[in-house]
Amino acid sequence: DEANGPPQTLGDRSLESLAHYIKDAPAWRIVVMCGAGISTAAGIPDFRSPGTGLYDNLARLNLPYAEAVFDIEYFRKHPEPFYYLAKELYPGKFHPTISHAFIALLAKKGRLLMNFTQNIDCLERRAGVPADKIVEAHGSFATQRCIECRTPFPDDDMLDHVQREVVPRCKDRSCGGLVKPDIVFFGEALPSAFRDASHLPAMADLVIVMGTSLSVYPFAGLPEYAQPHVPRLLLNKERVGRMGYRPDDVLELGPCDAGIRRLAALLGWSEELEALWRGV
Ligand code: APR
Repeated sequence: DEANGPPQTLGDRSLESLAHYIKDAPAWRIVVMCGAGISTAAGIPDFRSPGTGLYDNLARLNLPYAEAVFDIEYFRKHPEPFYYLAKELYPGKFHPTISHAFIALLAKKGRLLMNFTQNIDCLERRAGVPADKIVEAHGSFATQRCIECRTPFPDDDMLDHVQREVVPRCKDRSCGGLVKPDIVFFGEALPSAFRDASHLPAMADLVIVMGTSLSVYPFAGLPEYAQPHVPRLLLNKERVGRMGYRPDDVLELGPCDAGIRRLAALLGWSEELEALWRGV
């Protein structure tokens, strides 16, 4: 803040100096941007990890190409592959990871300006991140509606259809359109909540990017909106996007849960983090 003058540069781009920055600056307006990599430890495959990613494991669905499973035009003609996948991915049987718990801890400490997520598993909500601090940029399984007339479809009825692998149809007989969860498919617009929050990364005093390949725009462009002097931390198995190009970028490459535990230890937040995680 102005009172403390511009934050000192991190210099050595280490997690240690970033921890000092968080404790001494202190970082009160942290923006977290995350993807499927923070949920793999919960048992939900990501999309693009070679071998284990979803896109490498959809062969049995005879898709013309992997991402067709989330393409609105393909869904209109062949909704079955998505509903096969929906049964595997449907929220309810997965537990938040320590990485989700860390985001909830930031919110609990009043330091989370916003958590932008690409994930549709609702694990940020399950971990206790307040709803007004989450932007589900690619929607989620939380609600569903007819893709033709937009009539909402009842939640319990949806769960029943997914579990029985029956493709749900619009309740309005005269419509009979296909029902789809409010997940953003390729070819669909992002929720207005994404656009309404897109000014926030420029207000951040720290950006944390976790578990994403930064391969799908416009989400992938978010880290670039951070002001030039603001530190950006990447917690990911591999270097992605343009992370690491700025002098105050910190790259903590490897499993994000390990990076999070290392950061929490440096911050003296380990006890609190583990207790919060056990309680979700
Ligand atoms: N710890 C750290 N990084 C991990 C871990 C882990 N445990 N597991 C996977 N990763 C990394 C992978 O190395 C990869 O860089 O997370 C990233 C996951 O990338 P993707 O599978 O592409 O997932 P994501 O970035 O969320 O995909 C973006 O693509 O298909 C669309 O809409 C879909 O929201 C999704 C979007």
